[in-house]
Amino acid sequence: MTRHFIGFKDLGPEHCHKVLERAREMKATGYRGKLLDGKVIAMIFEKASTRTRLSFEVGIRQLGGQTIFMTPAESQLGRSEPLRDTARVISRYCDGMVVRTFGQEKLDELMQYGSLPVVNALTDQGHPCQVLADILTIYERDRDLSRVRVAWIGDGNNMANSWMEAAVYFPFELSLACPSGYEPDPALVRSYQAAGAKIFLTQDPKQGIAGANYVNTDVWASMGQEAEQREREKAFKGFCVDEALMALAAPDAKFMHCLPAHRGEEVSEGVLEGPNSIIFDEAENRLHAQKAILEWIFS
Ligand code: CP
Ligand code: NVA
Repeated sequence: MTRHFIGFKDLGPEHCHKVLERAREMKATGYRGKLLDGKVIAMIFEKASTRTRLSFEVGIRQLGGQTIFMTPAESQLGRSEPLRDTARVISRYCDGMVVRTFGQEKLDELMQYGSLPVVNALTDQGHPCQVLADILTIYERDRDLSRVRVAWIGDGNNMANSWMEAAVYFPFELSLACPSGYEPDPALVRSYQAAGAKIFLTQDPKQGIAGANYVNTDVWASMGQEAEQREREKAFKGFCVDEALMALAAPDAKFMHCLPAHRGEEVSEGVLEGPNSIIFDEAENRLHAQKAILEWIFS
């Protein structure tokens, strides 16, 4: 059966932990392999990327494979060729697809019409590769995730959704502080809570951050929401993770951000560049986490 990685549900409880541990091991040993020898992975990106593109391209090479990077601008995707046709064409040449796109339904279409493994490299609904890398960043500091409290301060966006999904499979507590009107979908929250995730919601960033060991934020306007920037700046007033807010977290709490960051908006320069910021470990861990995902898919 073809394995896809659209979210943590695909890994399920057993493989979530195995892949996390494998990623830790791959990082520790600087793992290189031949698993993808002779394989070509199509990287289909409809949005900009630095980390995701580079970490996948490097990781696939380190596993012996090759990549082809494709965007709508230089392919027929940008000239309205249906995705279902593209999916079937790519399936005749390649061995897998890593896809960054807008609606999650596009991944469904690629899986339905294509015959290759599909990896979610960010959609409007989720960014599971980033969150797995972030959990690895926590796990290498705190092996017992059941003792960890994670705070999400800001937009109830794709990253927030993936954190909530991850909380079903990993035992950390997750508190999300989002401004009114920018909370995650309540039905999604309820379904994850019903599945066992320890998720708490508030509109007060001070309450959300209280006692957190790891404090996460993200841009207020995600890719595709640029026109809402001004309106969002007003709505997110008080949600900047600065020194005063960080002082309410647990002693020695770490600051996390998937990057790219907007200094002076969702995070102060001092916190982003401060001694407790672990943002570049998160960026590095994209490589290790994704290699472990690829190994789970292709082995
Ligand atoms: N964090 C992340 O996904 O970064 P890029 O948009 O640069 O890939
Ligand atoms: N929420 C951000 C994450 C970028 C990695 C976005 O979708 O633009």
